[in-house]
Amino acid sequence: MSANGSGSAENLVEIEHLTKHFAVKQGVFARGHAQVHAVEDVSFEVRRGETLGIVGESGCGKSTTARLMLRLLDLTAGTVRFDGRDISKLSQRKLRPIRREMQMIFQDPYASLNPRKTIGQIIGTPFAIHGVKGAKTRVQELLETVGLSPEHYNRYPHEFSGGQRQRIGVARALALSPKLIVCDEPVSALDVSIQAQVLNLLRTLQDDFNLTYVFITHDLSVLRQIADRIAVMYLGRLVEIGESEQIYEAPKHPYTAALLSAVPRAGIDPRERIMLIGDVPSPISPPPACVFHPRCPRFHKGHCDVVEPLLRELAPHQWAACHYPLERWPMSDAEIRQAEGARREDRPHLEGAAHEV
Ligand SMILES: Nc1ncnc2c1ncn2[C@@H]1O[C@H](COP(=O)(O)OP(=O)(O)OP(=O)(O)O)[C@@H](O)[C@H]1O
Ligand code: SF4
Ligand SMILES: [Mg+2]
Repeated sequence: MSANGSGSAENLVEIEHLTKHFAVKQGVFARGHAQVHAVEDVSFEVRRGETLGIVGESGCGKSTTARLMLRLLDLTAGTVRFDGRDISKLSQRKLRPIRREMQMIFQDPYASLNPRKTIGQIIGTPFAIHGVKGAKTRVQELLETVGLSPEHYNRYPHEFSGGQRQRIGVARALALSPKLIVCDEPVSALDVSIQAQVLNLLRTLQDDFNLTYVFITHDLSVLRQIADRIAVMYLGRLVEIGESEQIYEAPKHPYTAALLSAVPRAGIDPRERIMLIGDVPSPISPPPACVFHPRCPRFHKGHCDVVEPLLRELAPHQWAACHYPLERWPMSDAEIRQAEGARREDRPHLEGAAHEV
């Protein structure tokens, strides 16, 4: 079962119980290996034609989830279904034709473009790999599609601005007419005005080419401009998922609320922000039960640290994994004061470590 229902033709991607542990050495002299719990039992679906945003702090497993979805990494456990087919265990050879249909756009448009290759060669590479004819004409058409000029064909990446380079990355991703494009922090390295242009381009292309996007970012204000639904991750877990409107207007999970309260909004006193206590714990030894409990302002000792909260549908199509979800948003002054002082006696080791998300 995925978070929002069972499999259907409506979904392009369905991931179930997706799990990835990385073996890492602990310390220089350590002999044994520890496991990084990068992604832990994550289930959700991506509907055809939608933009699903994935948000969360650095290290929460966003990129790993995307790389598992595209089978760029092997799964520790779980399943990935793409376009109705289970691709979880397919060999690289069998994955090859499917790879044409799933592409990725990366954060750093400069690092992801080979500086020694011309734009024509870069965008034409997928055609060459997959033996597609008439590559030059197709590349020139693609350059026009993403708002560049066909004359840019023989230029090199360093001759372009950051925004233009990201357009080149988008053209390369579009080359083989994919069904799914995973955008991993595609605008984080760009100025705000250029961000808006690239987001507009992605939106237009989505309509024109019937694309489905998974859009990864740590910035909720970017997602507001592009996502239909939003998945919130914390320490490798999916903690909330719902329509964008629900996530922004009525978040249920305290972590979502904390992320939202860190987004500056006109007319909101910065003192009304929810401050999270402590740092993100290590994914090598995640806290028991609710992994958010050491930082949660609504923590209930004896429950949250003992019983793992499972995803529950708390409003139509909105799921959150929390025993004490928010009843309203924004929280009242009294609730915020209570949250800030909440049961500090239960967490003396965190005293003095308060900081913002
Ligand atoms: N190849 C690897 N070997 C060991 N640990 C890894 C590997 N790749 C990722 N990790 C760890 O897995 C966790 C999740 O990493 P991931 O890159 O998916 O996070 P993220 O949410 O994309 O973060 P960011 O916002 O910084 O890109 C992190 O603790 C990371 O250090
Ligand atoms: S289960 Fe408890 S600790 Fe976890 S998010 Fe909900 S209230 Fe906070
Ligand atoms: Mg990442």
